[in-house]
Amino acid sequence: MDAKKDVKTKLWGGRFKESTAPLVEEYTQSVEFDQKLYAEDIAGSKAHARMLAAQGILSQEEVEQIIEGLNQIEKEIEQGKFTWQKSLEDVHMNIEHRLTELVGPVGQKLHTGRSRNDQVALDFRLHVSKCLSLWQDTLIDLVTVLVDQAEKNADKILPGYTHLQPAQPVSLAQHLLAYVQMFCRDFERILDAQKRVRVSPLGAAALAGTTYPLNPKMVADELGLDEIFSNSMDAVSDRDFVLEALFIGSTIMIHLSRLCEEIILWANPGFGFIYLPDAFATGSSIMPQKKNPDVAEIMRGKTGRSVGNLISLLTTLKGLPLAYNRDMQEDKEPFLDTHKTVYMSLQIMARMMEEIKFNEQAMNRALKEGFLNATELADYLVGKGIPFRQAHHITGNIVAYAERKGVGLEDLAIKELKQFSEKIEEDVYIALDFKQAVSRRETPGGTGPQSVQRQIQWARQWLRQKNGGSV
Ligand code: ARG
Repeated sequence: MDAKKDVKTKLWGGRFKESTAPLVEEYTQSVEFDQKLYAEDIAGSKAHARMLAAQGILSQEEVEQIIEGLNQIEKEIEQGKFTWQKSLEDVHMNIEHRLTELVGPVGQKLHTGRSRNDQVALDFRLHVSKCLSLWQDTLIDLVTVLVDQAEKNADKILPGYTHLQPAQPVSLAQHLLAYVQMFCRDFERILDAQKRVRVSPLGAAALAGTTYPLNPKMVADELGLDEIFSNSMDAVSDRDFVLEALFIGSTIMIHLSRLCEEIILWANPGFGFIYLPDAFATGSSIMPQKKNPDVAEIMRGKTGRSVGNLISLLTTLKGLPLAYNRDMQEDKEPFLDTHKTVYMSLQIMARMMEEIKFNEQAMNRALKEGFLNATELADYLVGKGIPFRQAHHITGNIVAYAERKGVGLEDLAIKELKQFSEKIEEDVYIALDFKQAVSRRETPGGTGPQSVQRQIQWARQWLRQKNGGSV
């Protein structure tokens, strides 16, 4: 294309004589990824145009033409008929260019009192907010599934681990409800972050505000945003809202990846606590016996990229002077990537947890393997008046003895036990029973059945509240 003609097609081409180098055009354009913001861009432009009319800056007729044009563009995009042009840099200029094509010179009035700096900040805030709401919906779904599984499996017990060594028996419900707590916190974190995401920056213009008598509150109201910016320079350069979203996304992924790790371990034949549904596992191309937990592994792996996206934007923003800098264009791809990862992972985890079957026999077998009732024996001895340190020592000796014999503590005869302490009586076998060990832990938040029921009720109540609330 003739260089002079090309430069005049740029919306900012007035002061330029030469056209952009092709490599630079490719390098600086963002339309490849920010076209995802088209709906927000159009909604923001409509709100801006209506406000311009209300303030007497544009005529009613002009605004009607602009709105009509924007509606037409939205249709074209949704029907895949819109031609995105890299030479027009970004979503904003692609849409504005097409608007002028459709409605003529009046299209050029839309940008009055506005800059791409406040425009992109608005679009992205709306987009991030929408994605966060989707995460909330899927978190609700996952929490519901986990609570249902906890309730269904409330009577199953399995080894609880510390250092991944068998520690004490816990109920399966208690284990699942720990994840409920994590995902509820993630949900609450989003609610809190939305307060800072849902702030309209429109009206800040390039950085200093504008001479037109704008009404930013009217724009915010039309878009359903709760607040407006307080400082024009902050409005165009603040990306905290993206950082917060990326942090929340990373935290969700970390929670998911911990659950994935449990799934991977539990599906290992050495544990055998779960049967993975076929739809969520894959086979090996060489070893016919294999059923691999690939879905959980990929999810665990994807956590790395979410954390990377957070670090990437933190690093981009470090040391940027006020106000807008083009570096900030680098906020979009990390977030779009994190959104895809978080949203899909949450949905998949909900379905996988719904279909997982638990193998009670394997859990019972594992309980017998790690002397998980040793604390119970020590506590039993304390109950018989032996100081805890001594009780701990005696129990250690009994464990070593049972280990040599290759049996559990509960398999030792009373005669054998009495060699270690005369205080041990027949009632010791009640203390050594695994189910009893779980039942006795009714302290608040403990693994006892009543405590677990209280947690389930709490979660059901939380879900009712959130479903009726802002979800
Ligand atoms: N694509 C740009 C971004 O994402 C839009 C804003 C451009 N503003 C500018 N002054 N060049 O940040």
